[in-house]
Amino acid sequence: MKVTVVGAGAVGASCAEYIAIKNFASEVVLLDIKKDYAEGKAMDLMQTASLNGFDTKITGSTNDYAKTAGSDIAVITSGIPRKPGMTREELIGINAGIVKEVSSNIIKHSPDVIIIVVSNPMDTMTYLVHKTTNLPKNRIIGMGGALDSARFKYRLAEALEAPISDVDGMVIGGHSDKGMVPLTRLATRNSVLVSEFISDERLNQVAADTKVGGATLTKMLGTSAWYAPGAAVSGLVQAIACDQKKMFPCSTLLEGEYGLNDLCIGTPVLLGKNGIEKVVEIELDENEKKQLHESAEGVKKTNGLLDL
Ligand code: LAC
Repeated sequence: MKVTVVGAGAVGASCAEYIAIKNFASEVVLLDIKKDYAEGKAMDLMQTASLNGFDTKITGSTNDYAKTAGSDIAVITSGIPRKPGMTREELIGINAGIVKEVSSNIIKHSPDVIIIVVSNPMDTMTYLVHKTTNLPKNRIIGMGGALDSARFKYRLAEALEAPISDVDGMVIGGHSDKGMVPLTRLATRNSVLVSEFISDERLNQVAADTKVGGATLTKMLGTSAWYAPGAAVSGLVQAIACDQKKMFPCSTLLEGEYGLNDLCIGTPVLLGKNGIEKVVEIELDENEKKQLHESAEGVKKTNGLLDL
């Protein structure tokens, strides 16, 4: 199993690190345009191998896509991250050109690749990859919901004063401050609805904190977060590499599911060796449907800014 991670910035490097630590991939290629940067990060990470007990071989490349040849999975993290006060949507001008070029270069050397898009605005960048490559829809996956759900569980555990392993929940919709739809109605603590333990008001606060999860960290760190994004990507990569048929909310091209068409947005999917093996349609109540459709309108508006 060969995995390429394009962009050796904080998210890309963290993603490579988590993939290596989980020890399921034979090779990770880290690629960046900055001279010697990916090689340096790869060397530093390889020097953790004996300490962290992994055998995954991590190599770096300065923009030489020949080194990525034969990749099973490629993760695109390239582009600029947001600065405090920016929305993910504001990154579209610069990141669209980068994501288009990167995906085309990857496919040239790895025609059977499964692409995971992380660059923002992620749902629109995922749609761009659909529009500008010939890959089938199961092989283009946007990473957002897995991260947003992890942040949701963090906030749920905080509100419940419970260990995170006690809670479960999912965030669907667009990966944006306004577009996320945390499914508070369905969140559970050991299969008991969380509404049994906390007030509606507290639960609404959990949802609000979840939606600005990325923005909160960007304000604190001066740039966007990397540990949880890297860990979330590694979870998707592992589900594909190990053919787990695991369910994550991911941005995927919808063709009628949830009454939506011609956009990529977060819905639960099953991930296995073929990438997205199924879009799971769950029963939403009227309020959740309304939120998802409003979120879809926002994503479509951003898609409209693409020069396709
Ligand atoms: C975040 C970025 C990865 O939410 O979109 O942290």
